[in-house]
Amino acid sequence: MPEESTPSHHQQVVELAKRRGFFFPANEPYGGVAGFWTYGPRGATLKHNIESRWRERFAIGEGHMEIDSPTIFPEPVFEASGHLRDFTDMIAECPACGRAHRADHLVEATGEVADAEGLSITAIEALMDDLDVHCPDCGNSLADVAVEEFNLMFKTAIGPGSGETGYLRPETAQGIFVDFNRLAEYARNQLPFGVTQIGRGYRNEISPRRAIIRVRELTMAELEFFIDPERDEPDFSQVDDGQVVLYPVAAQEGDREHRHLDVVTAVDEGIITNAWVGYFIGITHTWLTDLGVDPERLRFRQHLPGERAHYARDCWDAEVYLGSDWTELAGLADRGVYDLTKHAEATGEEYTVFRAYDEPKTVERAMVDPDMATLGPEFGERATAIADELERLAATDPDAFDTDTAVVVEVGGDTLEVPVEATGFSIETVTEAGEGVRPEVVEPSFGVDRLVYTVLEHSYHEDEIDGEERRYLALPPSIAPTLAGVFPLLRSDDLSERARMIERHLADAGLSVAYDETGNIGRRYRRQDEIGTPFCITVDHQTLEDDTVTLRERDSTEQIRLDTDSLAAILRDLRDGRSTFEDVRGDADSVMRGVDG
Ligand code: ATP
Ligand code: GLY
Repeated sequence: MPEESTPSHHQQVVELAKRRGFFFPANEPYGGVAGFWTYGPRGATLKHNIESRWRERFAIGEGHMEIDSPTIFPEPVFEASGHLRDFTDMIAECPACGRAHRADHLVEATGEVADAEGLSITAIEALMDDLDVHCPDCGNSLADVAVEEFNLMFKTAIGPGSGETGYLRPETAQGIFVDFNRLAEYARNQLPFGVTQIGRGYRNEISPRRAIIRVRELTMAELEFFIDPERDEPDFSQVDDGQVVLYPVAAQEGDREHRHLDVVTAVDEGIITNAWVGYFIGITHTWLTDLGVDPERLRFRQHLPGERAHYARDCWDAEVYLGSDWTELAGLADRGVYDLTKHAEATGEEYTVFRAYDEPKTVERAMVDPDMATLGPEFGERATAIADELERLAATDPDAFDTDTAVVVEVGGDTLEVPVEATGFSIETVTEAGEGVRPEVVEPSFGVDRLVYTVLEHSYHEDEIDGEERRYLALPPSIAPTLAGVFPLLRSDDLSERARMIERHLADAGLSVAYDETGNIGRRYRRQDEIGTPFCITVDHQTLEDDTVTLRERDSTEQIRLDTDSLAAILRDLRDGRSTFEDVRGDADSVMRGVDG
């Protein structure tokens, strides 16, 4: 595995990111606050391009709907979703310096325990003692320090005065679940369907670190895919049949060997139990490697049982090797019916989709027909709520009506007795065409900031050109912030003017290009290499004679001569993956190498 083979370029990447405008800590003039970063001009474009590629693959490519919900939700939403109680990490505060640490990370940092996230507080406290854990900031012993649960949601007040309590969403997903009924209508109540969302999430991380890898305000790209588990099966012909690296629970608890398998085999052999999770692992693997993630540093690890989020029946993380650590890049969770059931319980709404039977069915149904002329005078304003509750009770517990006297209902916190003859209870024989089905949910959830970081670190290279060291980012043309640099070979009126015209022509064609005439040509190539620009176009004296330019490719530094007329179409095909530089080179008259300087 990559442990020995790949040096960490973390420091170099973060330094390059700050210097060349990919990302930098926010609020530095005010001393900065950990966990908040600003994307500079190059990083903002790179991030935007990655989001566009995600949208193309996971929304448009799969035929799903995209929404854009608020980022602040009222408290009852997170009470129902379980985040208020369970969205916590374990915190240990240093009594000497006051710094807070994630207790599971302290234990993992000793190298003695691989995954501490799923352990109980008592187990973590015992390990901190046994492993003699010290504060990473001041060195004080943390052996006897108490570990506590810390909720990661940011709390806020909605409206003036005491207001209503709200929380900044920790995942985009709840905005999709809460409005499921409306979204199902947009999908014409046909399962399966998917809803995507790209947007901010907020997590009050105990110790933000590793630049944009662990931040407090993040961007997530999530797909909530709703399926009828009895009917819907994935179409594996859409998935690459190549091998992926899997690290299932059995391997983590056993021989610790990774499994190299195609996803269909992994599903057939029961290594991946939910076929849809297998499908999205396959799609994710191809999408990530197309984006520039190194397949040698990519694996899918199944969560250990104690590690799973409160809503998940199963989860596989796409993990990337960054320097010395495997880091989660995306989670592919089987959320079952958890979320829709919780919101149905909290709101009294159905959160189901109608499923037609193959043949209509005749069934017996418990019904009520409350006598409002009796309930009104007896219960006043509460009569309607009582009628609703009777209806619910008939559907869920018809035995409650098996009485000669009164049916007991709970309304607004009060226990009330309703005379059974006023409920209009009966058992009717009805013919039904179908039933409401609560769909199961499979969720691929990506952290966009970690994607940005990973493509930078995995594309970072150092080599030597013309006896000079160079650093370059081998970013794919589909996401590179600038597709092509446009240079006059020398700064002169006629060459500069011609190069400016080409720059304008390419920009008008919707291509992201950057003009540069400062410094020698080698320096200008180096500048573009460092920010991952895949191509450079140079205008020289021959251009003025025959209207051709050189097109240089970043990784190989090879150059070919092309007609300026064909440039825009060729660059667009290169950007959109319709051709490669090798294809274009094959068609060119001449190829030059090592002529950078
Ligand atoms: P971790 O274990 O690293 O804290 P997590 O299990 O809490 O991550 P998820 O809840 O599965 O992460 O979130 C979905 C995705 O969002 C992750 O795969 C990751 O890419 C991203 N993510 C989560 N927390 C952060 C964060 N604090 N900063 C940046 N990205 C994050
Ligand atoms: N929506 C997935 C997560 O927050 O982990």
